[in-house]
Amino acid sequence: MANDHGNVDRHRRMLLGAGVGGCVGAALGTRVETVAAASTVKPGDVLVHSGGDDQGEAVDAKALIPLEPVLTRPRSSAGKVRQGKNNLITVVRVPAGELDPRFADVAAGDVVAVSAVCTHQGCLVSDVGHFGTAEGKLACSCHGSVFDPRVGGKNVEGPAPRGLPALPIDQKDGQLVVTGEFTGKVGPS
Ligand code: FES
Repeated sequence: MANDHGNVDRHRRMLLGAGVGGCVGAALGTRVETVAAASTVKPGDVLVHSGGDDQGEAVDAKALIPLEPVLTRPRSSAGKVRQGKNNLITVVRVPAGELDPRFADVAAGDVVAVSAVCTHQGCLVSDVGHFGTAEGKLACSCHGSVFDPRVGGKNVEGPAPRGLPALPIDQKDGQLVVTGEFTGKVGPS
């Protein structure tokens, strides 16, 4: 149970660190109310921590622990961290050998990047579940949608009509660099 509380606390810190107005201060998984602008992520951007002590610093790809997601934002080559909820990206290392090979081209080794915005009603999806079918998968705490990072963010349970679009990335000098556009629409339809 102590673990569960730790995970909840970590989730809360991630939400607070995201700097997303309207969704913090209430229950976990509160719908993000900020008006959504389209994602402005571009190839060549570097993924940086969206909050916490490391806010704005590049994610160290080698330090990622399997199934411990990190909430990130893209930073342009000019050093600007791209704002707006649709630029929130969840990065997660899947256990070795578990990535569906069809998604090898969009992953950086075992590291997958997907939109952090649920395709159901726009809550943040930035943590893994620890119970039942959500175990080890990205779980939306608003209405129970579950997404599998091993399958490029595919929706596997709940009301979300689509998976979380993946963002093609690669590793360069230990950093995660964007190599393409999201594989689908970000956020609710
Ligand atoms: Fe994610 Fe409803 S907003 S399941």
